[in-house]
Amino acid sequence: MTYRIVLLPGDGIGPEITRVARAVIERAAALSGFSVRFEEHAFGGASIDRYGEPLTDETLAACQAADAVFLGAVGGPKWDKAPSRPEAGLLALRKALGVYANLRPASVHPALADKSPLRADLVAGTDLLIVRELTGGIYFGRRERTDSQASDTCTYSRAEIARVARVAFEQARLRRGRLTSVDKANVLETSRLWRETVSEMGARDYPDIALDHMYVDAAAMHLLRAPASFDVIVTENMFGDILSDEASMLPGSIGLLGSASLGEARPGIFEPIHGSAPDIAGQDKANPFGAIEAAAQLLDALNETDAAARIRKAVNAMHEAGEWTGDLGGDLTCSGAGVKLVERLEAEAVAA
Ligand code: NAD
Ligand code: IPM
Ligand code: MN
Repeated sequence: MTYRIVLLPGDGIGPEITRVARAVIERAAALSGFSVRFEEHAFGGASIDRYGEPLTDETLAACQAADAVFLGAVGGPKWDKAPSRPEAGLLALRKALGVYANLRPASVHPALADKSPLRADLVAGTDLLIVRELTGGIYFGRRERTDSQASDTCTYSRAEIARVARVAFEQARLRRGRLTSVDKANVLETSRLWRETVSEMGARDYPDIALDHMYVDAAAMHLLRAPASFDVIVTENMFGDILSDEASMLPGSIGLLGSASLGEARPGIFEPIHGSAPDIAGQDKANPFGAIEAAAQLLDALNETDAAARIRKAVNAMHEAGEWTGDLGGDLTCSGAGVKLVERLEAEAVAA
């Protein structure tokens, strides 16, 4: 079996971390007895520089024809004033592929508990999943701008809410059976529709799931007060964006979290949750583990669970050995962490 993966390194640290993740996917695939063919395309700022737009028709067509899309990160100060920004290309890609459910797991390996800015005893045992709605809400509403006024419109339909909520309920069933729906229903009309829709689905289709609701401001607080009390969180696009960056501080670095963006059919998009980190780009300093977790999510989505498990086992072994990049107080470079990880994949395969 050969899978076709479109690789979009993007900007800043994107090329550095995707180079590592690609080598890890290739090695894990070989050890698990299948192969992958990567096809690389310029995307984001890199595509603006070459073609004048962040997402060309050709790149989009390649993504649509792939088994999966693997993305680094896009954006940077160089393109902040571009007529069509790198970030607009990312939103267009998500919309075109219909990947409405963005799964962002955050867990704290015991070896990482004292890496968090929060107390180790508080973050210990954290294992949560944020299911972020990804193709609706304020990110995709009408925008208006005059000299003196600007507006962004937030819209959700019942169907958009129901389909992402279904993903979250199903994930809760596979995990610990708890779902927290996060909204701002005390103020926003979209949030009232959100809460109503999720509540009805819970009562009708998921009586086995312990569902509760939280306002987003309180959720931001409870995430720091008692992170281990959460199982699955489902929320709208912008709240999910913000809460997932916050959640990255539970294990101690935004460089650790990966994400899977899924729709009804392939291909999904797999990317770390962080951005292009212009402040450390080109220095071989970035933490590649978020991209590597996204690689494991990609393999899980292709049903290559054996290869995904190999990768996660090797990552855990690195945590246990304290083999980290600088953001976690270690002395590995980005590429060096990749080399170590591939060595650990090989060593495990020999031991097994
Ligand atoms: P960022 O996530 O790029 O960086 C925030 C901070 O975290 C920086 O100090 C950075 O050095 C650090 N960081 C991020 N990833 C890291 C890693 N793997 N290892 C170690 N440290 C890491 O967010 P930002 O600075 O607000 O945004 C920079 C650019 O990235 C912007 O143009 C933004 O729009 C874009 N962005 C893109 C994506 C994406 O492509 N999915 C996501 C977020 C931000
Ligand atoms: C993310 C990023 C993007 C988002 C930006 C770059 C459009 O922050 O993937 O989390 O807000 O979705
Ligand atoms: Mn974000």
